[in-house]
Formats: sequence, structure tokens, C-alpha cells
Amino acid sequence: MDLKAFAERLEALARELEAQLARAESLREVEALRVRALGKKGELKQALASIGALAPDARKEAGRIANAVKARLEGALADARARVEVLERKRRMEAERIDPTLPGRRPPLGARHLLSRSLEEMVAIFRAMGFALEEGPEIETERHNFDDLNIPPEHPARAMHDTFFLRDLAGYVLRTHTSPVQIRAMRAWRERGMQPPLAVVAAGRVFRCDEDATHSPMFHQIEGFVVDRHISLAHLKWTLRRFLEAWFARTAPIRLRPSYFPFTEPSVEVDIGCLICEGRGCRVCKESGWLEVLGAGMIHPRVLENAGIPPERFSGFAFGLGVERLVMLKYGVPDLRWFFQGDVRAGGM
Ligand code: DAH
Repeated sequence: MDLKAFAERLEALARELEAQLARAESLREVEALRVRALGKKGELKQALASIGALAPDARKEAGRIANAVKARLEGALADARARVEVLERKRRMEAERIDPTLPGRRPPLGARHLLSRSLEEMVAIFRAMGFALEEGPEIETERHNFDDLNIPPEHPARAMHDTFFLRDLAGYVLRTHTSPVQIRAMRAWRERGMQPPLAVVAAGRVFRCDEDATHSPMFHQIEGFVVDRHISLAHLKWTLRRFLEAWFARTAPIRLRPSYFPFTEPSVEVDIGCLICEGRGCRVCKESGWLEVLGAGMIHPRVLENAGIPPERFSGFAFGLGVERLVMLKYGVPDLRWFFQGDVRAGGM
């Protein structure tokens, strides 16, 4: 090989690379071409390796030519890089293009749960009648939940409550009803040195190990009670009728059945005519035409005593109602489990 052939070889290499660089569209392509031309095993290195085969006096000139070609290629690479960078930025902007004139996507609006709104409405009805709202804990002592309510340890009523016990917290249960708030409220009332009458409602979650179309392991109750001198069953009856008529915004058949609760004497169960089947019998009322919505009665003297209220001077009535049942009846919800399944069609309105 002579100097002329060497020079021609490098010129051809330079031309070809310049042409390819001119067509390159990405930095990756440019980089691949750089490696091919100027890399350790690149074509320029290979050409230089052949310098040794030239006549000694031609080698210097060959080196000069090679350096010139190298500088030329480096320039071409820099140009290509600058051009492709602009191209790439443009492509990126194009891909990330935002049209601010497009209408926004509205996040679906939530609705308050039917139960939350109903609970509030029920409490409001009682408040309008002069009841004060009190609260109690969901993790309750066995004493408040049972003993103080005249349900001693071996009492069969304890078994009926399907209680959730707390493995790591002896003496505590998930409250099975809101009745323990009676004890708490009466004690607090006494400690504050307040004068009768005491009229309190407590609303909240209660827990029982039970589940079907009309039972849920967690449900809501509203407890209410009044303590004063000369409170009688008549006051209870009037209060419950007022409440039920306000809630259903209509008159509905109601019946009081003699019943038993350890914390009331006498005790009654209040049934309301099934509003879903109008008394004909359906799944919800278990074909009876009636739905039990309330337990109630005159507060047992022993319960008053346990709360520090002298039963010789005071008497009281109490009631506990199932919130879900009353909501099911009013809105025709056929299955209690719907309240807790998170399906917005059942809850939002
Ligand atoms: N605590 C009862 C229960 O959950 C309901 C109840 C019945 C409450 C009679 C009362 C009452 O205050 O007087 O089954």
C-alpha cells in the first residue's frame, strides 16, 4: 500500500461517516458511529495500524493525514451531536405536550353514608325533644357492659350477646350494646352535681359475633334514657311514638310486647309493622309482618343503684334501638350487609 491509497482509504472513511452522521436521528446512533470510527477497535485505529507497511519517508505524511481526518471526524461528531440533541428535545416536548384547553377530569364525588346521615337525623329528633348527646367507648369494661347493667357473670344474657372478647386485654370487651353509656352518663351526671331530669341519648357502634341478612358483627345502636322523679312507662311510650313518627314521617303500627332485659323491669319489646311488605310477610321480617326495632323498659332499681342514683327517689325509662333496622325499613334496604359492602349505589343519594 502506498501513501495515496492510505489517504484515499481515510478519505472514504471520513466521507462515509460524515454521510451517516448527517442521517443520524438519535444520540445513540451518533455514539455508535463514534465508536465505529474513533473507538479502540475503530476504523481509524485499524488504518493507523497499516502505517507501518508504508515506506518510511511516507509515514510522517500518513500520520499528518490521519490526524487531520481524526479532527475532521471529531468535528462532524460534535455537529451531529448538537443537531440530534435539538431533535431529541423537540421529540420529547412533542410527546409530553399538554393541551390546557381540554376539560378537566372530575374526580367522582363521594356521598355521606346513609347510616351516618340517618344516625345524625335520629339524634336530632331526640335532641329536639330535649335529650343530650353522650358518648361511650367501643372498647368497654365487662363491668360497664354487663355487671353494672345487672348481668352477672353466670347470667344467661351474657351468652346471648355473642361477645367479642379481647385476647390481650382481660376484663374488656367490644361493647355489645350502647347500654353501658347509661351507667357512665348517670355517674358523670352525679359527679357534676347536676339536678334531674337527666335525658340522654348515646349513638354508636356495637359489636356481636353474628352475621346474616339482618345481623352484622358491627352495627349501630341508639341508647336513650330519662331519669327523674315519677318517670313512668307512659313517658317511654310517648317518647318512642314521637320518635318513630318523626323518623318515618308517618304513622306506623307499633306494638309493645312484654319482654325481659336484665337492666329493665318491666321490660318491653317494641315492634313496628314491616314497611317493606306492609305486614304480609317477607325475608326481612322473617314472614312475621313485624320487625323488632327496640328494646325498652323501666330502668332496673339495681342499675340505678350501681350508677349511684337512689332508686327510692328516682325512676327512669330506657330504650335501645337498632339504627340499621330503622334505616332498612325507611328506605327499603333489603339486606343489612349492603351497608358495609362499599357499593356506592346502596349508600349515596
Ligand atoms: N341493650 C339492649 C340490646 O342491645 C337493648 C336495650 C333493651 C336497651 C332495653 C335498653 C333497654 O336501654 O331498656 O339488646
